[in-house]
Amino acid sequence: MIKDKILDALNKQIKLEGDSSQLYLAMASWAEVKGLEGSANFLYAHADEERTHMLKLVKFINERGGKAFVPQIEEPKQDFASLKDVFTAILNHEIFVSESINDIVGLTLEERDYTTHNFMQWYVSEQIEEERLARTILDKLNMIGEDKGGLYLFDRDIVSMDVAANTTA
Ligand code: FEO
Repeated sequence: MIKDKILDALNKQIKLEGDSSQLYLAMASWAEVKGLEGSANFLYAHADEERTHMLKLVKFINERGGKAFVPQIEEPKQDFASLKDVFTAILNHEIFVSESINDIVGLTLEERDYTTHNFMQWYVSEQIEEERLARTILDKLNMIGEDKGGLYLFDRDIVSMDVAANTTA
């Protein structure tokens, strides 16, 4: 049986992953209407990924005899100044998510819940990858600056950046 403290922390994480999915979805929609098709596809795919992060937690809680709480999802930021603005927000958001995951990992040790500790290791690895990807993309956008040709190529190639990251993870 899962302890209440752990259950509360995991349920909060469900909300954070759900909010993450909405944030990526809003970013995808923004990119799509700006004509940044590659970036939109990347962000739509990532919104789906965040939903799977949420579902994984729901199933884990229920399988451990707890009850997952499905929260109301906050309205995310809808408008962005540029792609650089989008990926800066992503990096900051993923750092925030990593801190939340680390807090849960710390709590599992305090509560001697080694099953949840083991389960959370997947999220620890995933966060390393998510932060790395956001930093890599942001570095590229910083290099491109205001160069429209560079931005065109970036938008064409961004989907393969995610594929490359997933195959090396
Ligand atoms: Fe599921 Fe991007 O954290």
